[in-house]
Amino acid sequence: MADDIIAVKPAIAAKARIDAARREAMVAAEAKDAEAFWRGEMTRIAWMKEPTKIKSVDFHGDISIRWFEDGILNASVSCLDRHLATRGDQVAIIWEGDDPNSDAKVTYRELHARVCKLANAMRRLGVKKGDRVCIYLPMIVEAAVAMLACARVGAIHSIVFGGFSPDSLASRIQDSECTLLITADEGRRGGRKVPLKANADEALLTCPSVRHVIVAKNTGGAVEMMKGRDHWWDTITAGEGETCEPEKMNAEDPLFILYTSGSTGKPKGVLHTTGGYLVWASFTHENVFDYRDGEVYWCTADVGWVTGHTYIVYGPLANGATTLMFEGVPSWPDNGRFWQVCAKHKVNIFYTAPTAIRALMRDGEGPVKKHDRSSLRILGSVGEPINPEAWLWYYRVVGEERCPIVDTWWQTETGGILISPLPGAVALKPGSATLPLPGVKPALVDNEGNILEGATEGNLVMLDAWPGMMRTIYGDHARFGQTYFSTFKGMYFTGDGARRDEDGYYWITGRVDDVINVAGHRMGTAEVESALVAHPAVAEAAVVGMPHELKGQGIYCYVTLKTGVEPTEVLRKELVAWVRKEIGPIATPDAIQWAPGLPKTRSGKIMRRILRKIAANETEGLGDTSTLADPGVVQELIDNKVG
Ligand code: WTA
Repeated sequence: MADDIIAVKPAIAAKARIDAARREAMVAAEAKDAEAFWRGEMTRIAWMKEPTKIKSVDFHGDISIRWFEDGILNASVSCLDRHLATRGDQVAIIWEGDDPNSDAKVTYRELHARVCKLANAMRRLGVKKGDRVCIYLPMIVEAAVAMLACARVGAIHSIVFGGFSPDSLASRIQDSECTLLITADEGRRGGRKVPLKANADEALLTCPSVRHVIVAKNTGGAVEMMKGRDHWWDTITAGEGETCEPEKMNAEDPLFILYTSGSTGKPKGVLHTTGGYLVWASFTHENVFDYRDGEVYWCTADVGWVTGHTYIVYGPLANGATTLMFEGVPSWPDNGRFWQVCAKHKVNIFYTAPTAIRALMRDGEGPVKKHDRSSLRILGSVGEPINPEAWLWYYRVVGEERCPIVDTWWQTETGGILISPLPGAVALKPGSATLPLPGVKPALVDNEGNILEGATEGNLVMLDAWPGMMRTIYGDHARFGQTYFSTFKGMYFTGDGARRDEDGYYWITGRVDDVINVAGHRMGTAEVESALVAHPAVAEAAVVGMPHELKGQGIYCYVTLKTGVEPTEVLRKELVAWVRKEIGPIATPDAIQWAPGLPKTRSGKIMRRILRKIAANETEGLGDTSTLADPGVVQELIDNKVG
């Protein structure tokens, strides 16, 4: 066991912002007087009027979460304006293109000007405080500009990942009734083009709320522009001034909506507000990554996911950091790309997902060692559990045992990191996200909601709020309470299971609901099922996660065809393509098994527990199947398991 603990190196602790003693002091101070603690931390962002009320939280009844509620601010001012005097000429964003020969650097002054120009244009198009703006952009600087321009005018941005299909884009636009869409002609990924404008055109056929579309010219590919509705970014911003009055926002005014998958129904619009979110983004970015002035920080996520929101844009820019935005993929032009970019831009802090590490591990040490990684100081991991083997490879090969690894556990809903080592304060254990940050109060509960003490395993809940947590589901506050606070009364339920060891360290075991995590992307099994049953040949479908060497989890589909439809290879391929088209390439099924019948209880409920075990080849301990309406279907499924 002792071998598995990697102590904090004294040299790292000595220089870190937070060492073990300081961490203890912070945890104690927050526990003693949370209001005083957060009153101290809130000054890390810029306020037009400082709040006097700090925290007002009720996890019961209607669920109400408010932080800094009488404060007035504008998030774009914290991320831009207040840096101009001290670091106007410092690089804010290093952009590295998909093509290794293209890059760009944008200073804080330039970024401020670009944001103001777009914000002015948006106001001219009639965008007002509280309006929803959908952003469907590739990883180009314009994505950050668009987010901050929304914040500037008080519009609520809703980013949709560029890998989503026209249907997925449309349903997200419809749910929050966006009036403006910001997109690009095309995206680039791994040498291929993504037809964003064409997808948007298709989506907008069913989105009457959208009055205007702003289109960034990225690849220069041919697109159709609808007169009166579509505007080229460069044309519409050309005449605009480089300053723009920031809208005065209340701390609890919404900053953004981000759709994420749950265990049931359609994706939910997770809503984050302005003050608490920004304090949390800044607090966690600075402390978890031990960020120092002048360092180059790179988070490889896409801005379409929450990691990109908090740790490419809002956290780093609030802290005056230099943040790297990468358009490409780890495997193109070759598997050394990440390390080539680290060497090229002298990256100090590098934050990526286990799925990428596992994929790169396959190619051995060669592609890593080819590039100079001496600038690296801290390595981070996010998105899914990291297996100890991948953790150790990351630590030994990439970081040369020099760089602490921060395995950061959090969710779209939490706004920022909740459980993670602080690199100068917490000894590491490969595979564990270690300890909660100051102000975070996790607990493990059994299925009845009883809090379990000591070394144990259970459902991961949070007993109290932190400033960055979501406030509601857009347009459906009842669903918010139902989804997160009804399973265990008075507690926020994460949907994850975890183990806690004798040192109090948390080991996340994965989702305990019907959400699967495919290469770090959240996917509701219900979404894939409804895509499948929308196909005319399909009578019924049940989807579960299966263990996948690279992606963590893969998508395993059991499909019952309509009577008379022949199960053929051609149909199997057609269904895979169908799901890709309905949801997007991230939902590509890994396996489709023809299932003449599905295991159901007598009341007709599909027994997913059994289906998960069959997909995982764990057919020894299937448990009690006697309650099934037709126990025979189980053996049939085992005998015909695919892969
Ligand atoms: C999983 C991504 C283990 C978890 C920030 C969570 C993790 C879901 C970790 C949220 C980690 C995220 N270790 N599991 N370090 N980080 N997860 O909303 O299951 O896309 O509930 O947010 O990812 O995914 P989301």
